Amino acid sequence: MTALEDPTSLEQLAARVDTALTKVSTLPAPVQVVAIELKDALDELHRVGLARIITDLRADPRGRELLFALVDVPEVLTLFQLHGLVRAPDLATRTRLAFDELVAEGLTGELVRVEGTQAVLRLPGATGCSGAEMKDGVGKALMHAVHGLTAVEVEEPVKEPTLIALSSLMVRPGTAWVDGPPRLGVLPGQLRRVDVGGTTAVVLVAGHALAAWVNACPRQGEPLDGGRLDVDECTITCAAHGLEFDALTGESLSVPGLVLTAVPVRDNEGTVQLRPPAGAR
Ligand code: FES
Repeated sequence: MTALEDPTSLEQLAARVDTALTKVSTLPAPVQVVAIELKDALDELHRVGLARIITDLRADPRGRELLFALVDVPEVLTLFQLHGLVRAPDLATRTRLAFDELVAEGLTGELVRVEGTQAVLRLPGATGCSGAEMKDGVGKALMHAVHGLTAVEVEEPVKEPTLIALSSLMVRPGTAWVDGPPRLGVLPGQLRRVDVGGTTAVVLVAGHALAAWVNACPRQGEPLDGGRLDVDECTITCAAHGLEFDALTGESLSVPGLVLTAVPVRDNEGTVQLRPPAGAR
């Protein structure tokens, strides 16, 4: 049975709601008011119940695991989004998720960034004549999978950003603060990777504020420095599965209760200083 034939598929469920709302819009005005009030009352009942379920699940470690798994189910994610309990993924996040699927199917490459409605990729295997076909094929597949994506550009591989060596960091006698990069060296939109006391952090500037987080997504531990910092929205998007976090509070905007691990950070006369988090070697 295809999704279009399955009455429990997301497509069919959404179409049923659309059809009913269209029919309501053709009813006499007083009847419309009653019908919409009934819908709003049911929506609110569901929203309050769902919020309670989420609150109770995230209060228990096993419940949080279950919640993570559930938000991967399209029907559940749609329900949470409809009730304003999680944010709808933006174009960049949807592009990353679609690109991850291509990688899972065997593609070797990297989604460098999404600018406006254009994605920029690196495809190390796309060389020579067949390389042009490969670039074309990947671009088409991505635009087909992501509504709103209008162009895909493939750029040449560049060297990995340099990890700041431990030896270049200095622990000041009598303090636990460790010198990091110059404040002006943390560029807008950059998740700057820094070694601090045996662990790795990402440092960022959002607005005029400085923040630092352990370089591991709390969902599955993937590094955050491969993700995206949106300084306008003040969000970090993990590249692995697209979860969004508030760049300054660390709170997840995708999964309630999930929080980044903070690394104490300060601007000391133009030098970023970090304090190794508890438990760091
Ligand atoms: S590790 Fe999956 S979203 Fe971060």
